[in-house]
Amino acid sequence: MEYKIAVLPGDGIGPEIIAEAVKVLDAIAVKYNHRFLYRYGLIGGAAMRQGLDPYPEETHQVCTEADAILFGAIGDPLYDNNPDAKVRPEQGLLAMRKKLGLYANLRPVKMYPELIHLSPLKEERILGADLLVVRELTGGLYFGEPRELRNNGTQAIDTCVYSVDEIERIARVAFKMAGLRRKKVTLVDKANVLETSRLWRRTVTRLAAEYPDIELDYMFVDNTAMQLIINPARFDVILTENLFGDILSDEASVISGSIGLLPSASIGDHVPLFEPIHGSYPDGAGKNIANPLATILSAAMLLRTGLNLQAEAESVEEAVEECIRQKILTWDLNRDNPAGTSQVGDFVAGILQ
Ligand code: IPM
Ligand code: MG
Repeated sequence: MEYKIAVLPGDGIGPEIIAEAVKVLDAIAVKYNHRFLYRYGLIGGAAMRQGLDPYPEETHQVCTEADAILFGAIGDPLYDNNPDAKVRPEQGLLAMRKKLGLYANLRPVKMYPELIHLSPLKEERILGADLLVVRELTGGLYFGEPRELRNNGTQAIDTCVYSVDEIERIARVAFKMAGLRRKKVTLVDKANVLETSRLWRRTVTRLAAEYPDIELDYMFVDNTAMQLIINPARFDVILTENLFGDILSDEASVISGSIGLLPSASIGDHVPLFEPIHGSYPDGAGKNIANPLATILSAAMLLRTGLNLQAEAESVEEAVEECIRQKILTWDLNRDNPAGTSQVGDFVAGILQ
């Protein structure tokens, strides 16, 4: 079969980790007799450095014409420490999410037994941790209006706004995902304080009646931050709004030992996007030290969720597991004898040959 994949390397380590994921996809194409047609697009600082918008129209075209999008990372120090900048690279990612209607962000957190000792948490606490953060991605404080400086720059306002429709569509994703897992959804909010959170509770509680085999419980976000450290295994699916999901998914990621291992999928009504959850790690750019596994695992999610290629996705995941067993790992996971970014990609692709 032939598939169109939009490839957006982005900033920092983005191009290097994407190159390794493409290497792995190429190996899958040979093994399973597919053709992947890659079209590349600029985004973020990489686009701005060419004098373009952080999400240029050309890139949007490439995305809308693809079957799935593989994205690297965004963020460029050139634009970071200037709060007065009108345009910043991150706006490219936000614009892409909004324009492509990518409202559901799925961030699975999985333990690898061989790496359990690398977790900052004690082994007995994290044993059995296997959770999925379902983060709302196109609403809340990230997009609410008004958002502006006021009173000659002495005051600033952001707006958190959610509608029942927005909550329902993401809640359905969470209930469906839970149905494929351990059948439990925890709605994370701040309903003791926020009106939006209370709307989430009412809406999700009502919707839960349509999913009688799924257990629903509720947790405040501050408590969740604590429970993720004390007892992460209690969670199956965490359903939450945009900003809480951003924060909690970074926190949850280190349970597994490195943020460099975690893939994600962003899904909407059209073309889905797959990306590692980590950032652009500018200090590591161009040094062949960044961990490509999160991007390679994002390519696996792309195969499974984006192109409906189950066996292909499993092959990639098994190859990554083998890579971990053989300790072919970058320095974040192997201080003593670190492999380079390209070496890890070569190893995974090699297993698939
Ligand atoms: C993420 C990132 C983005 C976000 C940034 C880069 C805008 O942190 O995907 O989690 O906040 O959503
Ligand atoms: Mg984040």
